[in-house]
Amino acid sequence: MLVSQNASAIRPRNLYPMVYISLVFGILHALPDFPGEPCVLKMTLRNFRTILSWELKNHSVVPTHYTFWYTIMSKPEGMKIVEDCRNITRSFCDVTDVWGNMRETYVPRVDGFKGNTTLVSCTGSFFLATHMSLEPPEFEVVGFIDHINVTVKFPPIIPKILDGEGLWFYSPLVIEEQSGRIVKKHKPKINENVTGDFTYVIDKLIPNTNYCVSVYLEPTDLRAINRSPLKCTLLQPRQQSEFL
Ligand SMILES: *[C@@H]1O[C@H](CO)[C@@H](O)[C@H](O)[C@H]1NC(C)=O
Ligand SMILES: *[C@@H]1O[C@H](CO)[C@@H](O)[C@H](O)[C@H]1NC(C)=O
Ligand SMILES: *[C@@H]1O[C@H](CO)[C@@H](O)[C@H](O)[C@H]1NC(C)=O
Ligand SMILES: *[C@@H]1O[C@H](CO)[C@@H](O)[C@H](O)[C@H]1NC(C)=O
Ligand SMILES: *[C@@H]1O[C@H](CO)[C@@H](O)[C@H](O)[C@H]1NC(C)=O
Repeated sequence: MLVSQNASAIRPRNLYPMVYISLVFGILHALPDFPGEPCVLKMTLRNFRTILSWELKNHSVVPTHYTFWYTIMSKPEGMKIVEDCRNITRSFCDVTDVWGNMRETYVPRVDGFKGNTTLVSCTGSFFLATHMSLEPPEFEVVGFIDHINVTVKFPPIIPKILDGEGLWFYSPLVIEEQSGRIVKKHKPKINENVTGDFTYVIDKLIPNTNYCVSVYLEPTDLRAINRSPLKCTLLQPRQQSEFL
């Protein structure tokens, strides 16, 4: 390893003032940019998994392998390797199992190699609560005369960021119902133990009407909302027999 441990111990501290200033002035960006760094790092929540991906700014530098490291800001700890992301060819690392605290600032490091030569080493810092790009969850809709069941897909095992209030405090789940020009927002309370399919019933709807539903995680800061594509359903008319 050409990059010394000393260098990595100093870097997080250098990054700290920038994060601090951002928080004080409320200038929070989904995609923090680290101007001097050779990579663009991106943190994404996808299907409730936290994925850190990277892209080299200089496309003529082409590593064949990467190794992913990280540390945290809240304690003086050294860089740790994520074993699943040691000497990998893909340019992302699934950090769901290691980055579980929404109120922590994580400092990633990506080393890019060609053979045994380190071509590039990048770092950054991510405060999960505000620096994650939130992809909308998967969902299905089923319409029936006067109600729609919206089924949101949660993972079979609860990731750490969903434990307790974590994610929901900073980015509540919103189910948006649209009919013509009328838009209604529903914010279901998500049980901390939710796994698998979660069904929310939108009721008291008008039969024989077309409704569309979009689902998203609504950031409580200035990040843009990333809505799912609409899923629509034309409710059936009431049957004569129902009135008898
Ligand atoms: C990109 O990398 C190549 C190869 O290392 C180097 O020659 C070139 O100067 C770099 N370009 C920029 C804009 O840094
Ligand atoms: C990384 O993997 C490549 C090929 O899979 C191998 O040639 C190289 O020696 C490995 N590097 C390390 C440090 O294990
Ligand atoms: C690269 O590093 C690995 C692990 O340290 C070693 O086994 C291998 O011989 C090295 N390859 C070269 C070409 O130096
Ligand atoms: C919608 O969900 C409710 C409550 O879980 C259930 O009683 C109802 O049958 C469901 N409707 C459809 C059309 O699946
Ligand atoms: C979550 O699950 C645990 C263990 O199964 C249980 O003790 C707790 O009451 C549950 N919490 C809620 C809000 O249902």
